[in-house]
Amino acid sequence: MSTLLLGVSGSIAAYRACDIARELIHAGHTVRVVMTRSATRLVSPDTFAALTGNPVVVDVFDEPEPGQIAHIRLAQEADLVLIAPATAHTIARLALGLADDMLTTIALATRAPILIAPAMNPAMWSHPATQAHVQSLRARGVVFIEPTYGVMACGDEGWGKIADTPVIVQAVQQRLQQAQDLKGVHVLITAGPTYEPIDPVRFIGNRSSGKMGYAIAEAALAHGAEVTLITGPTSLTPPAGAKVVRVQTAQQMFDAVQAAFDACDVFIAAAAVADYRPERPLPHKRKRNSQHWTLRLVANPDILGTVAQRKGNRIVVGFAAETDKALQHAQEKLKRKGLDLIAVNNVLEPGSGFEMDTNRLTLIYADGRIEPLPLMSKRECANRVIQAAREILARRS
Ligand code: PMT
Repeated sequence: MSTLLLGVSGSIAAYRACDIARELIHAGHTVRVVMTRSATRLVSPDTFAALTGNPVVVDVFDEPEPGQIAHIRLAQEADLVLIAPATAHTIARLALGLADDMLTTIALATRAPILIAPAMNPAMWSHPATQAHVQSLRARGVVFIEPTYGVMACGDEGWGKIADTPVIVQAVQQRLQQAQDLKGVHVLITAGPTYEPIDPVRFIGNRSSGKMGYAIAEAALAHGAEVTLITGPTSLTPPAGAKVVRVQTAQQMFDAVQAAFDACDVFIAAAAVADYRPERPLPHKRKRNSQHWTLRLVANPDILGTVAQRKGNRIVVGFAAETDKALQHAQEKLKRKGLDLIAVNNVLEPGSGFEMDTNRLTLIYADGRIEPLPLMSKRECANRVIQAAREILARRS
């Protein structure tokens, strides 16, 4: 079973965390509790210590075990962090990445999934500031267990009551399950642009930032997959846990994919690969000595199309970056390249495509199914692509 870190912040609903801790222990998990200073005014840390059988930490300088840095150890040992109840103030601190107490420090240091069950007055929950913090945390993969409607301790009525204990426990179990559902599956991903050299200082490239491909790598890791990320030049930090292969050109990306393909179960090509490269890159910087300059380009290998020919039992997923007749072009690519799934984005559409934090994908399956997705964060898009690949994988085995 799993080690869960239960963060309790200073809402009247703090007493509910006792019940939540008990149910999680009942489900077979080890529970460690971290409290904010204000939560300790509502429920005694001794109560949680007695319920969980583990010491409760509050202060960042609390070091129950000499020789170990508690916030790092707790952050690393947790399989999941649940913050219940979470006040507006704690949500704001988490969204801003503040680390001004034990709970927020652990939340920043952990790589475990984070679930938040908010509890606050309805006016505070619906306040644009709180909702902006919720959005920003969601975009970073934090899962919110929505508050319910009811009468608050202050007498106000509305949305803001902490979710019921069974709902919270079920959300925890689902997230833990999700973290396992691609265990043993190797996902190979390409991301970012390729740079095709013209001379030592110039290249042909494109506007891909790598955000879409990196989000897919993060999502695959969150589902427990082993991940190899083959990336063109980007300014992004690769997700922790992925094996990263850095390349510059389409030919290098082709070689890296060929080398890794046999060992993968799922291949997802999110990179924007240059279809052509200068035939003869110049060895020295070209001087400005004429009014015209004609570059002769030659075709690069089609990475996706080539490996798909020997895909065997692997799931092969392509992307299609289109500017017109998006569905028609994507369907043609799916067939021509022999893919299981293609995710098409119209890169001219506001909020979609290159560089954006959001995207609007339509998933087209080999069996003809078409699943249009709404405009959502690239992280959410990535989750949907991973879920779709997982479903195809499950149907096949
Ligand atoms: O990186 P971001 O800024 O987040 O932007 C995301 C994105 C727009 C780059 C991404 O969503 C996307 O659409 N990626 C695919 C871009 C692309 O090259 O599309 P395409 O329609 O030209 O290619 C079709 C498929 O073949 C793609 O899976 C591509 O990776 C692959 N391909 C293309 C050419 C080539 N020589 N080899 C390939 O493998």
